[in-house]
Order: sequence, then structure tokens, then C-alpha cells
Amino acid sequence: MPTVTVQVPSQPTPYDIHIGHGLLKTCAPLLAPYNGRRAVVVADENTAPLYGETMLAALSGAGVTTSLFALPAGETTKCPEQLLRLYDAFLDAHLTRADLVVALGGGVVGDIAGYAACTYLRGVHLIQVPTTLLAQVDSSVGGKVAVNHPRGKNLLGALYQRELVLIDCDTLKTLDARQVGAGLGEVIKYGCIADRALFERLESLGSREALQPVLDEVIARCCEIKAQYVQADPLDHGVRMQLNFGHTLAHALENAMGYGTLLHGEAVSIGMVAAARWGERLGVTPAGCSERIKRLLQAYGLMTERPDGLSPDALAATMALDKKAVGASVRTVLLTDIGSCTGVPLTVAQLRDLL
Ligand SMILES: NC(=O)c1ccc[n+]([C@@H]2O[C@H](COP(=O)([O-])OP(=O)(O)OC[C@H]3O[C@@H](n4cnc5c(N)ncnc54)[C@H](O)[C@@H]3O)[C@@H](O)[C@H]2O)c1
Repeated sequence: MPTVTVQVPSQPTPYDIHIGHGLLKTCAPLLAPYNGRRAVVVADENTAPLYGETMLAALSGAGVTTSLFALPAGETTKCPEQLLRLYDAFLDAHLTRADLVVALGGGVVGDIAGYAACTYLRGVHLIQVPTTLLAQVDSSVGGKVAVNHPRGKNLLGALYQRELVLIDCDTLKTLDARQVGAGLGEVIKYGCIADRALFERLESLGSREALQPVLDEVIARCCEIKAQYVQADPLDHGVRMQLNFGHTLAHALENAMGYGTLLHGEAVSIGMVAAARWGERLGVTPAGCSERIKRLLQAYGLMTERPDGLSPDALAATMALDKKAVGASVRTVLLTDIGSCTGVPLTVAQLRDLL
């Protein structure tokens, strides 16, 4: 079973991410340190019926007293009102500082349950059991937890140490194919920016079906890459921005098309092909990379072209508002090859011409 150890700078001890097929059924020994404690398992209305009982059984098998709390599914759940409901559930379960919260779900559950665990009684133990591919390769690594404020996404947040992450790849079998695709966009991104061998492995596997048997290894590699970025740049001021490859156009597309029309990973997929083309035109990216990335994304069932009818002027204007904008230019991640990248400041006029 692949295991990745993550040391988040600013946090005293590292934590392990265990990755395997069927892990939910066999993870009781990993939970043994919590024998005698209480746990609230936080899920959502989709993950609770699918995996709640199995998770409770694993915890009971380790001698943990459990209760299950299901939130509504979806991004709107990451709000202060649902956070208060979680605190009530923790109080009802008589959770003390010795006890734990288990987040069983995608990034939404991970973020809100993590934020609740961080703030309730100034912090209780946190275990994450991510059940979407995006949460497995991205949000379970790095320590960020958050809820949204009515004025903006993730405005109330913290860096909080989880103690253990359990990734059961088999949970992806019940995940909607579109959600799997959104996670695959992020998986392919890691190959593009940091690991040519991963990119080539995904090319030779060539389909979602062929990927399935080796998914645990691929997820582990993605967690390792994200962990390396987090360790190198814990405050997100430098090299970590490379993780935003494809995001300059992706954010503008999500904004222009209305949030939720495209899943984030789908927008990133389109954005990566565009950024590779920009790099080729600017002489930063070797010719042919964009076609190669496009073929790989298509092999895994992802969109690669922006929908017709979006005004390039409006997209460029939105890109100027990007959080990576510095003065008149937007720091854009361009590939120097498959598996390596660099940040290049581009003016809004340049981006407009490139679109
Ligand atoms: N903390 C971080 O570092 C970080 C990083 C990236 C994204 N995020 C956050 O993650 C969130 C997005 O996460 P997401 O894409 O996982 O979305 P999500 O949590 O909303 O899950 C997507 C949908 O899949 C359902 N689902 C989850 N697992 C399932 C399974 N195994 N089978 C069937 N259905 C399942 C959920 O109920 C939901 O309807 C955003 O809020 C984003 O801000 C956080």
C-alpha cells in the first residue's frame, strides 16, 4: 500500500497519507492510536449512505465511540451556518480535545469539517478520508481548511494539521464520471508541470479503464508532488504558484460562464491546452507540447477547447483581475517542456492577443 509522508512547515509533526484499494474496510489497525476516544464522522448526503457505515465500523473496530453527521452536498455547504451546525453536533457528541473529527467526503466536507476541527475547543484531532479524486490528489495535502464568506470563497480559513489521511481508491467507483474527469485534469497537470515520467505513464495507459488498477500509485505520486511544493513554499508566495498552470484562463472561463457551469478541473483542462499554446507562440514551450497535452486530456475524456461565443476582450479583462496579477501584468505559468515550467509575467494586451 503506497504511503506518502507530508511535513507541512509550520506544523510540528508530519502526517501520513495511506493509499489503497478497499482501505476503508481494512483501516482499523491504522486507527488503533485513537482507541478509547470519541469521533464524529462528518460526511455529506452522498457519502454518508455510501461509506458512513463502513467508516463507523472501522472506527468501532479500533475501539472508538462514533457518531455520523451528514451535511447537504455541494459548495454552498461551506458556509458559516453549516459550520455552526457542525459545532452543535460536536457538542451533542460530547467531543473533548482528546477526541477526533473524521472528514468523509470531497473537498467541501474536508474543508468545512477541517475548519470546524481546527476551531472547536481550539482544535481537536482531524482525520481526512477524501472520496473525490480532486480531494485525494489536492485538498488532502497541504493543510488548508476553510469555509466561504458571503463575499468570497475560502475567506475564513486556516492551516491545520490533519493526523492521518486515508485514501480508498475504490470510493471513486461511485463518483460521477464528470467529477472523476475534473480530478484527472489535476492529475495530468502534475505531469505537465513537474513529472514527465508521470505524464508519459498516463499517455501509455491511455484511458480511465487502464488507469484504474494502478490508480493508487498514480494518486500517491500526485500527493508526493503536491507535498514537495507545499514543503518548498508553505506560505504560497513563490514556487507553489506553478500549481496554477492552466488556471489563468480557467478562472476567467469559470467567471464568464457562471460558476458551476464547468467544474474547476474541466476549466483547468481547457486552460492547460491554451497555456501550452501561448508558451509555444512566445517561444517558451517547445513546439508540439500543446497537441500532446490535448491528446492526453482527450484520452481521459476531458474538454480541451473553450466554448464558442465567449468574448476574448471580456476574458482578458477578467484575467487582469486574477489574484496572480501584479500591476499591469498577470504572472502566468508556462511550460518549458513536458514536466517543467516557469512563471512568466504577461500583460493583459498580450493575453488578449494570445486568446
Ligand atoms: N483545502 C485545499 O487545499 C483545497 C484544494 C482544492 C480544492 N479545495 C476545495 O474543494 C472543494 C471541491 O471539492 P470536490 O471537487 O471534491 O467537490 P465536492 O466535495 O463538492 O464533491 C463533489 C460531489 O461528489 C459527491 N461525492 C463525493 N465523494 C463521492 C463518492 N465517492 N461517490 C459519490 N459521490 C461522491 C459529493 O457529495 C458532491 O456532490 C472546493 O470547495 C474547493 O475550494 C480545497
